[in-house]
Amino acid sequence: MNNETKNIIEIKNLVKTFDDRSVLDGINLEIPEGEITVIMGGSGCGKSTLLRHLVGLLTPTEGSIMIDGENIVGISENGMNCVRRKFGMLFQGAALFNSLTVGENVALPLREHTDLKDTIIQIIVKVKLELVGLTGFEHFMPHQISGGMKKRVALARAIALDPKIVFYDEPGAGLDPITAAMIDQLILDLSRKLRITSVVVTHEMKSAFRIADKIVILRKGKILETGTGAQIQNSKNSYVQQFISGEPDGAIPLMQTSEAYLKGLLET
Ligand SMILES: Nc1ncnc2c1ncn2[C@@H]1O[C@H](COP(=O)(O)OP(=O)(O)O)[C@@H](O)[C@H]1O
Ligand SMILES: [Mg+2]
Repeated sequence: MNNETKNIIEIKNLVKTFDDRSVLDGINLEIPEGEITVIMGGSGCGKSTLLRHLVGLLTPTEGSIMIDGENIVGISENGMNCVRRKFGMLFQGAALFNSLTVGENVALPLREHTDLKDTIIQIIVKVKLELVGLTGFEHFMPHQISGGMKKRVALARAIALDPKIVFYDEPGAGLDPITAAMIDQLILDLSRKLRITSVVVTHEMKSAFRIADKIVILRKGKILETGTGAQIQNSKNSYVQQFISGEPDGAIPLMQTSEAYLKGLLET
């Protein structure tokens, strides 16, 4: 990060407990503007929970979250709606409306949040579809296109309002490796061409190394390590190394329950 880069998001001592169980346990994290930050970790470590806090869907038990200079913790609903206009989201299961054309799906945020004339909206929709490589697809229905293309339409919709930040939760989930790599390339392109800040949550190591300026490794609600791809690859931390190699044996123990289950299987 050079000296002129500012942090567009600053998270301080973020704690979240659900029914006395702490899921986020004192997260301190800075997200530089215009870069791609990837939040990585095994399933259940709190990645989606962290992301849901950043977009104002969850309220922290403790801590503060500054987005573009504004603390969103304790902000009014109106205030949050204003902040939300600055970002786009591509969340797991964020489906298209099947009864609307591709173009109308992309146009939705523009119709909802602006007073732009229809002719202008049509032009913006064309531009956004071009950015995700779907020129000429505006009249298709969602059922006529592939899963990867649907993801791209959802991405075009996420950038419809020219957001400063785009949040992605497992963007490659449910896609074949080649299509997932195409989505990664798109995230890179959008970030570089439009200088969009990207925050990507994933458990896919390959994808993280492909796109990240900065990787954050989360474990059991805490940040274990932060660094560039190269720094993470050279990490001395045994958990990080096991996560990278994907080996079953190492610092990450089998869950007690599954150990007991396996023993049970062997004994019968
Ligand atoms: N609304 C909730 N109420 C109770 N527990 C939750 C809630 N949301 C998430 N959790 C728990 O928090 C942990 C982290 O979940 P999540 O953030 O979805 O993990 P990840 O996205 O890293 O797989 C899990 O154990 C999950 O069961
Ligand atoms: Mg998740």
